[in-house]
Amino acid sequence: MTQHSPDQYRVFGNPIEHSRSPDIHHIFANKSQQSINYQKQLVEIDGFSNAIAKFIHQGGKGANITVPFKEQALTLADELTERATLAGAVNTLTFKNGKIFGDNTDGEGLVQDLITNQVILNESRVLLLGAGGAARGVLLPLLAQNPRSIVIANRTVSKADKICQHFADNRISASSYIDLAKQDFDLIINATSASLSGDLPPIPTSIISQNVVCYDMVYGKDETPFLKWAKEHGAMKVVDGLGMLVGQAAVSFEVWRGVTPEVQPVIDKLRASLK
Ligand code: ATR
Repeated sequence: MTQHSPDQYRVFGNPIEHSRSPDIHHIFANKSQQSINYQKQLVEIDGFSNAIAKFIHQGGKGANITVPFKEQALTLADELTERATLAGAVNTLTFKNGKIFGDNTDGEGLVQDLITNQVILNESRVLLLGAGGAARGVLLPLLAQNPRSIVIANRTVSKADKICQHFADNRISASSYIDLAKQDFDLIINATSASLSGDLPPIPTSIISQNVVCYDMVYGKDETPFLKWAKEHGAMKVVDGLGMLVGQAAVSFEVWRGVTPEVQPVIDKLRASLK
């Protein structure tokens, strides 16, 4: 009887030490009786394409790509999904039939987590804070949920303008932070990296009310500065990005394995390990 070795997957990034992806994918695999081996690999800044080529040569089936290689991963792919093309970044590569397929599951992970948290997206007025890769990556899946509008606010407004031009969808517009004071929103999503340095995006407090849900793509042991601030100013509900992390992994797993894993037990497990 021949014994098949597990299919090989990896996450590539720099830094990579704190990545939870191997744990998440191994739990998905155990629960769905899939045989995989998933490892993390630190890649030198100029060594990304070589590292991928080597992994393909070794028989790798797929890879997740994280900071700072998501844009480079886009250029390596032979074929891209629309959501990856519009995001301008790839977080999921699949190696099949001698080709490299690029996808971006971040936005779908966010949308699924919003739905899990009973956040209504249909006809809602969404404010997206930030105009970097994280913001751009989630726009197409958000638009697919039929929001009434998405305003992108950024310190550097020209970057938000550029995203609007790129998407060419009349539901999306750009704004400075200061001009937000005159507007009403149902959902505010923080896609800036401000939380990582303990800062807050400079949003007017008047836009927070009992009808607003606030979401931060960042998560941690403690509540993020943005969510703490939103709560203090009376937001209806605050949600951090742990569910998005698990959600994007679940969509990658589905792309690779054709199986939809259950996310909630993994979110609960990771949440407990943060304490
Ligand atoms: P990522 O890939 O995480 O999106 P990025 O492309 O470097 O990273 O983008 C970082 C985003 O966070 C940008 O929108 C940035 O605003 P600017 O484009 O004006 O620089 C935003 N950002 C970072 N620190 C911030 C802070 N302290 N306050 C407000 N916005 C901040």
